[in-house]
Amino acid sequence: MRNVILDCDPGHDDAVSIIIAASKKSDLNILGITTVAGNVSVDKNTINALKVAELLKLQVPVVEGSSRPLVKQSEIAPEIHGDTGMDGPELPEPTKVVEEGHAVDFIIEQVKKSKEKVTLVPTGPLTNVALALIKAPEIKENIDEIVLMGGGTFGNWTPAAEFNIYVDAEAARVVFESGIPLTMFGLDVTHQVIATPDIVERVGKIDNDIAQFVKELLIFFGQAYKDHFGFNGGPIHDACTTMYLMKPELFEFQHLNVSIETKGEFSYGMTVVDKLNTTGLKANTNFAWNVDQEAFWQVFEDVLESFGEE
Ligand code: BDR
Ligand code: CA
Repeated sequence: MRNVILDCDPGHDDAVSIIIAASKKSDLNILGITTVAGNVSVDKNTINALKVAELLKLQVPVVEGSSRPLVKQSEIAPEIHGDTGMDGPELPEPTKVVEEGHAVDFIIEQVKKSKEKVTLVPTGPLTNVALALIKAPEIKENIDEIVLMGGGTFGNWTPAAEFNIYVDAEAARVVFESGIPLTMFGLDVTHQVIATPDIVERVGKIDNDIAQFVKELLIFFGQAYKDHFGFNGGPIHDACTTMYLMKPELFEFQHLNVSIETKGEFSYGMTVVDKLNTTGLKANTNFAWNVDQEAFWQVFEDVLESFGEE
């Protein structure tokens, strides 16, 4: 069983990613869920994380983290996720409460005390992870991999930059220059897993609370992507991370160098993907180019069905 910390800003697709990790199909040991400012403010993201954990009856700490990026002001995306950050499905206010302390310290403590190496799974801006690496660089030794959603060879927040990287490019730079093995799910691959109406219909036919919650998430998210980008459904970006941890063979990778642009006038927050190794720089990232879509959705269905089994 692999030890993971889910560092997120739920977020429709973050919620789906948590659900996959929590399923008995995943074989992941979730040490905790940490939250960060991203899709909406960190306090709203934390409430959403608590709601999802409660729905899943997941007994893991939920710890709130950074309320703003390292250097610049926060930017949020209510046009994609709604005012609450997880608009659409109705969930009661959580009874589960947030842990004392800060996500950055939680990450440091958990990594330090874990006997087995820990995998960090960031699906929001990289602020908490960067701060943990700055505050306690020695934890690198006990992190086997950072599996993240962010970036790509094109953008969705600017022409050059994807939202998670754009929001805190300085933090992303710390992470990409850390020397820790990185596995990156950028827009090139996440736009191959769009929950089109036929996928939503398949999910809707699964008769348990979790699948029905996911259906509602996908309906709201799909409409937002239709209104905003003209897509035929919402790409469940963040879910690629936990699907990979469960079934890495679904994806095709290239080991290459990725640098983070933090100065460009038009390209701030760009992940500069050196596909042809023009720089000669050492590869630092396992970059996901493609996914087997049919197999992905089949596994996704199996995961959701597993919540209805004893
Ligand atoms: C990323 O931004 C957020 O809106 C999603 O949750 C995902 O992590 C996609 O660009
Ligand atoms: Ca996210």
